[in-house]
Amino acid sequence: MPRLSPKLFKEAAGISHYLPYLLPACRSITSSVNELNWIKNELPKHKWLKALKLRKKLVPLQYILGNQPFGNNLSIKCEKNVLIPRNDTEDWVIKLSNILSEYFQNTNNNNIVNKPFTILDVCTGSGCIPLLLGSEIRPYNKQISLIGIDISNFAINLALKNLKINQNFLNLDSRTYYFSKQDLFNNNTLNNIKNKNNSKSVDLLVSNPPYIHSLEYTNNLQKSVKLYEPKLALLGHLEFYNQLLYKLFHPHFLNNSPNAFIFELGNDQQVQFTKNLLQKLDKSNQWNCGLIYDSNNLIRCIVGWKTDLNILSKICDKLL
Ligand SMILES: C[S@@+](CC[C@H](N)C(=O)[O-])C[C@H]1O[C@@H](n2cnc3c(N)ncnc32)[C@H](O)[C@@H]1O
Repeated sequence: MPRLSPKLFKEAAGISHYLPYLLPACRSITSSVNELNWIKNELPKHKWLKALKLRKKLVPLQYILGNQPFGNNLSIKCEKNVLIPRNDTEDWVIKLSNILSEYFQNTNNNNIVNKPFTILDVCTGSGCIPLLLGSEIRPYNKQISLIGIDISNFAINLALKNLKINQNFLNLDSRTYYFSKQDLFNNNTLNNIKNKNNSKSVDLLVSNPPYIHSLEYTNNLQKSVKLYEPKLALLGHLEFYNQLLYKLFHPHFLNNSPNAFIFELGNDQQVQFTKNLLQKLDKSNQWNCGLIYDSNNLIRCIVGWKTDLNILSKICDKLL
């Protein structure tokens, strides 16, 4: 990454003596001005200098301000040791909640009473995905329930705090949600979930697992992410997609197996692996799949669905 010129620092100081603190992280005057405004708006004046000094050390802004907006209404509390929710994740979760809201609205219009519908979010982190899905979809299906699991105590504690914070704000029903510390790679994970969910089936499996390959982590990852965000949330590869699909086709699920899945991923190798494994496990040829691209036209998610949830084809930018 090119070094910033003394001229740029001088220009920044000419606008505000606070701006040079923000340049190393923001790299441009425009985005430094934006961040300075957020700091001034969200923190009391006596905390500004401390915040600017932390930012100069590349601490992510969300850890300094303590939150990140997610979707239309949610404010997700951010704490160190738990991944900060990303805009790319927010984008596909909003698309998914729109599609599911439409699906439940249509069943309401046709006077079909909504059935219980359970979404399981594996690797839930701050809980941002189930909280956003629940807050958007619940008006259209009061019987929706959402389960978030994560291996990290920090993550589960933060997800519970986020449930509380947003519950007050949105008046959500806490019985809709269940967060639990579980390891995806543990054989008992599904049993534990089933017991806690009163043996209800899971209809949709979603996950944003750690998917950064070790080489990319070492060579290409942004410095502030590497310095301050948890490695446990970042480092991972094919083993996560392998485990997610094996869980999907596990005998515990089989009678009432999920009808759809969405996994966030980061590269074409992960897409090919997941697609090939799905074909191998799908003995009765029931599954369709497609891809979601992000605003930079990069592959963001692989989506799978059975005919019951054909509506999910609408979320895909490309069918596979
Ligand atoms: C990329 S983060 C996603 C967090 C959140 N869902 C989001 O989108 O912001 C991945 C999460 O996976 C969790 N994780 C890592 N290994 C796991 C495992 N074996 N079982 C369950 N969760 C795991 C990490 O603790 C982390 O919170």
